[in-house]
Amino acid sequence: MAINNTTGASSSTTSDTPSSGERSRVVQTQAPVRIMIANSKGGCGKTTLATNLASFLSKSGQQTAIIDYDPQYSSIDWLKERDEQHPNIHGVSVAQRTNPTAMTRSWSLRVPAGTSRVILDTPAGLAGNELSDLVQHADIILIPVIPSSIDIRAVTYFIKDILLSYSYRMKPKPIAVVANRVRKNTIIYGKLERFLATLSIPFIAALRDTQYYVHASEQGLGLADLANVPRKDKKEWEKLIRWIDEQTMKKEGKL
Ligand SMILES: Nc1ncnc2c1ncn2[C@@H]1O[C@H](COP(=O)(O)OP(=O)(O)OP(=O)(O)O)[C@@H](O)[C@H]1O
Ligand SMILES: [Mg+2]
Repeated sequence: MAINNTTGASSSTTSDTPSSGERSRVVQTQAPVRIMIANSKGGCGKTTLATNLASFLSKSGQQTAIIDYDPQYSSIDWLKERDEQHPNIHGVSVAQRTNPTAMTRSWSLRVPAGTSRVILDTPAGLAGNELSDLVQHADIILIPVIPSSIDIRAVTYFIKDILLSYSYRMKPKPIAVVANRVRKNTIIYGKLERFLATLSIPFIAALRDTQYYVHASEQGLGLADLANVPRKDKKEWEKLIRWIDEQTMKKEGKL
């Protein structure tokens, strides 16, 4: 029986392989896909993206966990509000309020076996070794950015920090930008779109500025859990999930 379980969390499939006339049982384990949500700028929607992504993935049948690296524990607080009638999302808090820089990697041991998607919610101000360390532990990176001149400037530096980080240079991985709190037909959104078109990394979805996110968040829910969410909002999420699925299939050699 071969077990390859480097992260402590795995979904396993079994197959029977003939060996020396006998049939031996081989267990292949698949590590969860780790999706990191990051932007050094505060308040751009990291937790909103992390919690909504978790709700969409768990609703689609993925066994999902959120790892909260933020000493504000926003994702963990969100999970506490979630009731049992909605698909389960496992939460792990790794940040320490007293020493936010002491980010331990032991979360991997606390994610249940069978977890297929892990979402990393990260704090504002992420830079340097801490950023490089988290990049190393991610398979996919999503960067939320809101339409504002200050945020556009800040994200330029943040993207550069990721691309130049030691772990990214050692092992590049898919990165994409998600526009958040979007109000189409505004001058500043036009500016954000033009800026994103100049980047070498894809711009995969534009999430509207809407109270659906605020109401969902108060109840430990995401848009996936709400009835009557406008089709245009769900469509953006479908685009986002499709992009993640494509990256996952490429990683697994299925595309
Ligand atoms: N698309 C949206 N529509 C409306 N409100 C939103 C949207 N996205 C985020 N918000 C609101 O903006 C605020 C900041 O969002 P959020 O907490 O997700 O940002 P953050 O990047 O995680 O912040 P921090 O850097 O403090 O961790 C929250 O009150 C949230 O409800
Ligand atoms: Mg947050």
